[in-house]
Amino acid sequence: MKSPLVFVIAAMVTCIVAQDPYYVWPDVFNDEERDAFYYGQFPDDFKWSTATSSYQIEGAWDVEDKGESVWDTFAHEGTHVANGDTGDVACDSYNLYATDVQLIKNMGLSYYRFSLSWPRILPNGRPDSASADGLRYYNALINELLDNDINPQVTLYHWDLPQALEDEGGFLSDDFPQWFNDYATYCFEQFGDRVKFWITFNEPWIIAVLGYGDGVFAPGLNGIGDKVYNVSHNLILGHAMTYRTYDSTYRASQMGEIGITLNSDFVEPYDRSIPSDVEAASRSLRFGLGWYANPIFKNGDYPDIMKEKIARKSAAQGLASSRLPEFTEEEKNMIKGTYDFFGLNHYTTVYCVDSDQEDLSNPPSYYKDGDVNQWKDSSWPSTGSSWLHVVPWGIRRLATWIRDEYGQDIPIYVTENGVSTKDVAELNDEIRTKYYTSYINEILKAIRIDNVNVKGYTAWSLMDNFEWAAGYTERFGLHYVDFSDPERPRTPKASANAYAQIVADNGFNSGSTVTGALCLLVASTLLALINAFVPSTCFEF
Ligand SMILES: *[C@@H]1O[C@H](CO)[C@@H](O)[C@H](O)[C@H]1NC(C)=O
Repeated sequence: MKSPLVFVIAAMVTCIVAQDPYYVWPDVFNDEERDAFYYGQFPDDFKWSTATSSYQIEGAWDVEDKGESVWDTFAHEGTHVANGDTGDVACDSYNLYATDVQLIKNMGLSYYRFSLSWPRILPNGRPDSASADGLRYYNALINELLDNDINPQVTLYHWDLPQALEDEGGFLSDDFPQWFNDYATYCFEQFGDRVKFWITFNEPWIIAVLGYGDGVFAPGLNGIGDKVYNVSHNLILGHAMTYRTYDSTYRASQMGEIGITLNSDFVEPYDRSIPSDVEAASRSLRFGLGWYANPIFKNGDYPDIMKEKIARKSAAQGLASSRLPEFTEEEKNMIKGTYDFFGLNHYTTVYCVDSDQEDLSNPPSYYKDGDVNQWKDSSWPSTGSSWLHVVPWGIRRLATWIRDEYGQDIPIYVTENGVSTKDVAELNDEIRTKYYTSYINEILKAIRIDNVNVKGYTAWSLMDNFEWAAGYTERFGLHYVDFSDPERPRTPKASANAYAQIVADNGFNSGSTVTGALCLLVASTLLALINAFVPSTCFEF
């Protein structure tokens, strides 16, 4: 008779030899060239982080002498946010910050990206109003992080402008760059001895387009054809002025890094064999990401295609000058090169085609200015947010696009990436685990295969929080927060453990090794059992 040993050996050989490519989303993305899982490690000094922002988590909106922000005003109006939700309490991190630090530590992270609330620090927006309590709070948070070996990555502006400054024109005021520079200077003075990683602005595109264009975010203004360009102009000047201040006055003694965080979808040509689709995709990226990246990372000025199109359209629309403001030569020189790194927030991808003809119609709109039609493919996995479909390969293509457009040497930090689920108590969040696994894997490919200079990764978000106009209906957290409980308890989701494992492994250990080891273990156990229980006459060794 045949020895069972033959079967055991056959099983061992089969499971070691079989190395079918592994796909995280096999039903949707299973192109062997593009989507197969890539095993390997990140560079030794890769920086793993997670992120939040002040208005989304802190609460304590009117504690002590804190000033109101545009989001306090906007949410309190009651009509702009789902369910009339507000950030009045949010995750109560103003009181629970030490708990947050433990969650970060438990995931094995050495970095935490959070933002400072400008009106908590300077209630009227200006240094003459500096709040002792604001200073106390952020000193306590920063010190708690450092005591736990976690490095702070601080965003100076994550959308909560002091209402007092909005009342004077906000980002539309020509004084805005100076206001921001003065606020940032105060922060460098107070925190720069311990904070070595500064981000000036989070997502200028959202600030301009959703806040001053569509009006769906604070301060809720409608200027999609014009204000968006003025806002962005002053923001870029404020960023550049602040970078120069850090560079000339604080860098030598504080030795930190400072940059900006830009958000971008990837824009995939619907048909790569049609040149006008390919051209439209580049144009869309230049009108979105390039609006800010071109001045800062390239030449101090807006992309040529933006300048040309908006000038031509403005004239056709009967305006005396372009809706896109111009930088002076002096300003261009000040803006160019104001970065130590490229902060990138990325979540999803869109398809695009050329719109076929230049749209010169009134009323003007940023959305029409690029002459690109774009949409999301309904076959891409959906999430808790209508704008967010899962497209892992998009982040790799975007990273290589940035490398090609702005230069190989620029260090890129992914400062946000993550996925939402609807407002349900789902601790076994398989979609988030798969999202992180696949997107982080694509970044590993960008580093190892495409040679893109990605230095760090930041998961959005540490915990469920106030998701802007969606209120508490969309959850992005690695930790579940119970917003109906006054204690705001945080509970790790499965994705927190999955992320911690990736961080602990600094990447993805080879599946064939793991599978092979498991197979050997199973096979040797079987063999031992057979030896123990099967009469020895069955064997003919
Ligand atoms: C916006 O910029 C344009 C072009 O530079 C300028 O003419 C206009 O006065 C600005 N509007 C505001 C509100 O700043």
